[in-house]
Amino acid sequence: MVSLIALLILHVFFVNQYLCYAADTISHNKILRDGDIVVSNGGIYALGFFSPGKSKLRYVGIWYNKIQEQTVVWVANRNNPVNDSSSGVAKVDERGNLGIFNGNASTPVWTTNISIPNSDKNSSLFYKLLDSGNLVLCDGKSKGDFLWQSFDFPTDTRLPGMKIGLNLKSGTNWSLTSWKSRDDPSTGDFTYGMVRTGSLEVVIKKWQQKIWRTGPWNGQEWNGISKVLTDNIFTSSFVNGTDEIYTIGHNTSLFFMLHMDESGIARRSMWLEATHEWSIVWSAPKDDCDHYGKCGVFGSCNSNNAPICSCLPGYEPKSPTGWYSKDRSQGCVRKRELFCGKGDGFLKLANMKLPDTSNARVDMSLGIKDCEIECKNNCSCTGYTSADVNRSGCMAWFGDFDIREFTQDEGGQDLFVRVDEIELESKRHSKGSFTKKKLVLLCVFIVVGMLTLIFTFYYFFKRAKRRGLARKKRVRELLFDLPSSNTVEETNGTFKLPIFDLNSIMIATDNLSPINKLGSGGFGSVYKGKLSGGREIAVKRLSKNSGQGIIEFKNEVVLIAKLQHRNLVQILGCCVEEDEKMLVYEFMPNKSLDFLLFDPTRSTSLDWGLRRDIILGIARGVLYLHQDSRLRIVHRDLKASNVLLDAEMNPKISDFGMARIFGGNQTQGKTNRVVGTFGYMSPEYAMDGLFSIKSDVFSFGVLSLEIISGRKNSGFYCEDPSMNLIKHAWELWRDGRPLELVDSAIGTSFLEQEVVKFIQVGILCVQENANDRPTMSSALLMLSNETTIPNPAQPAFILTRIPIHPNSSYSSTSVNEMSTTIVEGR
Ligand SMILES: *[C@@H]1O[C@H](CO)[C@@H](O)[C@H](O)[C@H]1NC(C)=O
Ligand SMILES: *[C@@H]1O[C@H](CO)[C@@H](O)[C@H](O)[C@H]1NC(C)=O
Ligand SMILES: *[C@@H]1O[C@H](CO)[C@@H](O)[C@H](O)[C@H]1NC(C)=O
Ligand SMILES: *[C@@H]1O[C@H](CO)[C@@H](O)[C@H](O)[C@H]1NC(C)=O
Ligand SMILES: *[C@@H]1O[C@H](CO)[C@@H](O)[C@H](O)[C@H]1NC(C)=O
Ligand SMILES: *[C@@H]1O[C@H](CO)[C@@H](O)[C@H](O)[C@H]1NC(C)=O
Ligand SMILES: *[C@@H]1O[C@H](CO)[C@@H](O)[C@H](O)[C@H]1NC(C)=O
Ligand SMILES: *[C@@H]1O[C@H](CO)[C@@H](O)[C@H](O)[C@H]1NC(C)=O
Ligand SMILES: *[C@@H]1O[C@H](CO)[C@@H](O)[C@H](O)[C@H]1NC(C)=O
Repeated sequence: MVSLIALLILHVFFVNQYLCYAADTISHNKILRDGDIVVSNGGIYALGFFSPGKSKLRYVGIWYNKIQEQTVVWVANRNNPVNDSSSGVAKVDERGNLGIFNGNASTPVWTTNISIPNSDKNSSLFYKLLDSGNLVLCDGKSKGDFLWQSFDFPTDTRLPGMKIGLNLKSGTNWSLTSWKSRDDPSTGDFTYGMVRTGSLEVVIKKWQQKIWRTGPWNGQEWNGISKVLTDNIFTSSFVNGTDEIYTIGHNTSLFFMLHMDESGIARRSMWLEATHEWSIVWSAPKDDCDHYGKCGVFGSCNSNNAPICSCLPGYEPKSPTGWYSKDRSQGCVRKRELFCGKGDGFLKLANMKLPDTSNARVDMSLGIKDCEIECKNNCSCTGYTSADVNRSGCMAWFGDFDIREFTQDEGGQDLFVRVDEIELESKRHSKGSFTKKKLVLLCVFIVVGMLTLIFTFYYFFKRAKRRGLARKKRVRELLFDLPSSNTVEETNGTFKLPIFDLNSIMIATDNLSPINKLGSGGFGSVYKGKLSGGREIAVKRLSKNSGQGIIEFKNEVVLIAKLQHRNLVQILGCCVEEDEKMLVYEFMPNKSLDFLLFDPTRSTSLDWGLRRDIILGIARGVLYLHQDSRLRIVHRDLKASNVLLDAEMNPKISDFGMARIFGGNQTQGKTNRVVGTFGYMSPEYAMDGLFSIKSDVFSFGVLSLEIISGRKNSGFYCEDPSMNLIKHAWELWRDGRPLELVDSAIGTSFLEQEVVKFIQVGILCVQENANDRPTMSSALLMLSNETTIPNPAQPAFILTRIPIHPNSSYSSTSVNEMSTTIVEGR
């Protein structure tokens, strides 16, 4: 007895190390009798004897254990039932075969029919029902593949993880076959499987007759299964391997199945726990046009038309009487015989479910142009298209085909069909008359346009006159300066920047309504706008005293607009009219960094990963300005409110090049105009007007520390006037407690080492001596790599000192977020 228990424990232990777990199994020791039920480990599926519907016959099958209405997903002996309702047994023989027996009978009605070579360990062979609904044979020895699994023998249901397709090596064809009826699980009329003639397709057949097909695989999806329907609700992937080609359903939900039912319809359904019913998410065939060959050969089906069938261009009904009396199965024939090569051409049909590929030839090495040539050169080629979504590869048809049309959003693909000269000519002709109509319309538009233009000119001149000579001069300068294309072009003519007219900006921003105001800074105010096309923009209205002429301004904007980097806000255009100067930017839905960072509730949405990516993004953007762009721009006003966040929370630096626009285009030196924001300005810049790329590095350092701590550098003012973030960070660092700097809103899920590194680099960037600060490229290198980072020296605490600029007076200062401009008194 003791040894038996020991053996049992040993057995369980031994088996447990491998894929299978020996509870609820069928084995030598555990015979399954009618009435016994094996339940999978998680209780999802059950296996046992059952009788479907009104039937009295007994079958062994697998069903959902938790769903009350018995939903059978697999049947072992579908064609060989047990007659007697109480005597059936299922047991495993020495060779590992699971057999279903009618009472004491010696031959099974059904068996897995395998033989395990060297099955000396016969007692350790057992069948186990997994939580995926797969009944597998284990021997506790071999890892990986199962010796046998029910998933290799689908009946009418595909569960997640089950394949539909082909094993080219073994010749296995995984396909679904419907039941005969609800009461009879034996092999029915309909199959759902993969065919491999020409290209690959999944088809539903009634015996050998095709009922429905998916359309060929285009590299991304089945051409005929509309994306709209399939998105998100269920996912299956297509695997094109050397040995196996199959589609496999994913387990987005365990209670999800593809079922080929006895009426010839394949359905994907999902169990809704709330309503306790199966909800059908997709089915095929779903309409008349889905039926294979509905319109016959060379017919095209469109379920939005009446009648739904039509012949392809160049074809006519084969039997007009039959066609009009709705028997369209005979299809269409060519109106005229083709004289191969002489004037033939192709017409494009859009949004097509591609023809059956059994007559098709696929050559992935050909592009679409070569495909056309290839098809044109062979008289029996009736049409072609590209073989995948990326317009590569060539799929050409030789012989009959049937197609259906989709609407735009249902998917489909362009198809080019061969037509003769006359058909091409007639299409050209009809197009010609169409353009004639268009021409007349165009003329009308031109006349109206001219009138409007004349009127506008008249209006402008009148207005200019009224406003005095100076204005008049400006308008004229503007009008004659603007190229006809309404874009500013660089001298070499390659770059175009759209010019918006003031009127359209006024409409877009609702006359610069205060409601649309997003913020303001030293350079002017920013408004949100919406162009008539629906695109959202941000309009920066520059303050008027820039002291620049229109031409200089535009030249400057064109230069700035050419700076393109994923971490810089893109300039979409500009507007110069009268004395307005505006810049139009892409709109950033997630506002600016300060909006999120310094708000106690909103800052919780910025976890460490996000903050790290924002810091790195800013670093890349600044590096681009300093080094990689042609202009070598020093930003001079880097701060949290100048870092905008796009929909994916990518940081984008804004207001770069403002210093240039406001007339200070040196990259290094001494300036009379100090632009910047207290709290972000390096000491040498704030006090002596000396700027260089190192003053941006200083601002970046402050910004990094702010992002890590969630506190404003200047915000410390309120608590302790002698304290600021830089000083606080330095003291914590000096005392070996850098992690105390970290914003509590980040939570605790971060790599301490990484955060410490970021703090260290931040402090390095705010050192007092500009020469001690790293360049942007080495700062980025330290942040994103494992390198040794020098120990920071004491940083600058500029806020404790009053900025002194020799010979300077403040024209505008503000303690808050606004940019400050210090202009030298003259
Ligand atoms: C079950 O019954 C049918 C007829 O009702 C008979 O043809 C068949 O041989 C029986 N099968 C077994 C295993 O007894
Ligand atoms: C396997 O087990 C069965 C029953 O337990 C026994 O009759 C048979 O001899 C065994 N076969 C081998 C090869 O050990
Ligand atoms: C099975 O065999 C036993 C004896 O070996 C016999 O008593 C019993 O009646 C048989 N049962 C059936 C259903 O044939
Ligand atoms: C079992 O398989 C062999 C070939 O592997 C086949 O010849 C035999 O007919 C099969 N037996 C049953 C009962 O299916
Ligand atoms: C696979 O089986 C299905 C269903 O029986 C069938 O339609 C299809 O032609 C088969 N595929 C191949 C390549 O034999
Ligand atoms: C198509 O192109 C996209 C992007 O270029 C690529 O990700 C995808 O894998 C390509 N698909 C195929 C089937 O080549
Ligand atoms: C499958 O792979 C083979 C070999 O790589 C390739 O020739 C064939 O075009 C692929 N089929 C599809 C439908 O992608
Ligand atoms: C889906 O399968 C994966 C891997 O087999 C597993 O980790 C995951 O838990 C499964 N999901 C569901 C919902 O069963
Ligand atoms: C045209 O294509 C058919 C079908 O693939 C082929 O049998 C025939 O040889 C080709 N003819 C020419 C001239 O290439």
